Amino acid sequence: YPPELIRNFSIIAHIDHGKSTLADRLLELTGTISKDSANKQVLDKLKVERERGITVKAQTASMFHTHNGKQYLLNLIDTPGHVDFSYEVSRSLAACQGTLLLVDACQGIQAQTVANFYLAFGEGLTIVPIMNKIDLPAADPEKIAQQLETAFELDTTDTLAISAKSGVGVSDVLGAVIDRIPPPEGDPTKPLRALLFDTWYDQYVGVVCLVAIKDGKIKKGAHPDASKLAVTKCADLAKLTGDRITSTHSQLSYEVSDLGIMYPEQHPCPSLQAGQVGYVVLGMKTTRDAFIGDTFYRDGHRTEAFPGFQPAKSMVFAGLYPIDTADYAKLQDALDRLTLNDASVSVHKETSMALGQGFRLGFLGTLHMDVFSQRLEEEYEAAVINTAPTVPYLVRYLDGTERVIRNPAQFPEMEELGRVKAFAEPMVNGTLIFPERFLGAMMDLCGSHRGEQQDMSYLDDERVIMKYTLPVAEILTDFYDQLKSRTSGYASFDYEEIGYRETDLVKVNLLLNGKPVDALSCIVHRDQSERVAKEWVKRLKGVVERQLFEIAIQAAVNNKVIARETIQAVRKDVTAKCYGGDITRKMKLLNKQKEGKKKMKTMAGGVQLPQEAFMTLLHGK
Ligand code: GTP
Repeated sequence: YPPELIRNFSIIAHIDHGKSTLADRLLELTGTISKDSANKQVLDKLKVERERGITVKAQTASMFHTHNGKQYLLNLIDTPGHVDFSYEVSRSLAACQGTLLLVDACQGIQAQTVANFYLAFGEGLTIVPIMNKIDLPAADPEKIAQQLETAFELDTTDTLAISAKSGVGVSDVLGAVIDRIPPPEGDPTKPLRALLFDTWYDQYVGVVCLVAIKDGKIKKGAHPDASKLAVTKCADLAKLTGDRITSTHSQLSYEVSDLGIMYPEQHPCPSLQAGQVGYVVLGMKTTRDAFIGDTFYRDGHRTEAFPGFQPAKSMVFAGLYPIDTADYAKLQDALDRLTLNDASVSVHKETSMALGQGFRLGFLGTLHMDVFSQRLEEEYEAAVINTAPTVPYLVRYLDGTERVIRNPAQFPEMEELGRVKAFAEPMVNGTLIFPERFLGAMMDLCGSHRGEQQDMSYLDDERVIMKYTLPVAEILTDFYDQLKSRTSGYASFDYEEIGYRETDLVKVNLLLNGKPVDALSCIVHRDQSERVAKEWVKRLKGVVERQLFEIAIQAAVNNKVIARETIQAVRKDVTAKCYGGDITRKMKLLNKQKEGKKKMKTMAGGVQLPQEAFMTLLHGK
């Protein structure tokens, strides 16, 4: 296919606005999947995605469509549906020349529509606005058109109005893709330059990479008959072995063992050339070798790399421990299997006094963490303890050096604090969209989560769009739940990272009879330390059983106790067995009991707390 007969496009939409339904319809209309196919929602493949109704992993599909007498190759490049994956969204968008901006004609523009619009706009893509769900009685296309003009300054005269569900207007979408979205630029005769924008792990062939070929061509590697031929001369050998390509990022070179297009499953082809999008199999063992945003070139012919490459960056860290320490190896196996397919999860070993041996995992965001935990439960078939999530904080020292802390255990101790100049935490620019009547509640919510208002305006006569800077740590808490509950689900929220900002942090230590329980310590803003301390000692009191001695539950900042609860001892009447009044025997027993108390006290701390108590405390169950 010459580039002028190719269109590479994506669909961007807020969750539930109908992206998967539209993709299914387009694939049906072009005969890529059959109408009665049980294979609905081709783009939403994973079970966990289907359960949650959200797209986590992008799936791409090619289709053929004849328009004005010419056959076109249309590549629908799917983008992950959540803000946690915004870097991956931007890489998928970089493989397209245009995008369908799909908006629910009843709900209108939502926060994710705004975030995705700006990503697409930033990539310089042609944007085709489409209103979906016009079959619904509550659809209000005029109002939505107005919103699109107000929010994005889009010319809405050519806005398509469709029902992805019933199919009304969907064929016009294919025409619009061909007529309005420009073909890819690129020259098949130039040296190879390919953008890697998605990967997954296939149990039979290993890692599969999705690439957009900007220039040049990739051919399949070894000649299929190579093994049958008696190759004697080096020159012949060179002719028979096909392409070897190199990753700009890792500088590793690979033989192309298979390639083709997604139609909608893998469909092998002899070559992929400039303008095309397809899969390549390079014999990589794990997706950790495949870097989203990387550029491939033919061995020895280095070409200019695509700009903006970033390695996956974890924004949320949590400890993960087996409930039964004997299951450590089993947990490690499960993690190895899962991370084969998801290189954006970072895994490091860690040990906790209270919980034993475990792992510290890094995720792109909270949704990513939830999805991974759910997969892990299916894979590992046993419960695990997750410690409270934390963001990567920065410690800046007086001598100009910096250190990242991903775990409260890494927080500077008293003696080190003297050398600390400042702490910094990651921040986001958040966008909230909601009906005007919730304005007070939303300002209150953002204010109580250390947010600072940047901007506020009206999308139409009743919907407000508000921008706040917020610390990532605040979004990890109850922010989403509160947002939904305070607005009965009418508010939407999305964000983009904007880097670090200096802040005043302290570490709150939880102590059982004077001993810190490492798994329960946390890093918080100084202003919140007292509230957090009180809350934790209360929760801890709720799960620690009364024992033969008094238990002090304390929370301390810099060795200073700021909250305390006490659990009274169960008084065991040791003298009950002594008949008569042998005072010396009685004293002896009482002394023995006292000794026992001391012994138990020194053993207190993490040791006396059953693992189940951590489950209750950390998972709120
Ligand atoms: P994510 O995968 O979470 O991004 O969602 P999505 O945007 O892919 O939404 P999906 O296609 O799963 O549609 C969400 C819901 O809206 C489903 O229940 C669809 O049946 C419904 N839906 C989609 N298009 C239409 C439409 O044109 N009319 C009506 N009435 N319902 C629709």
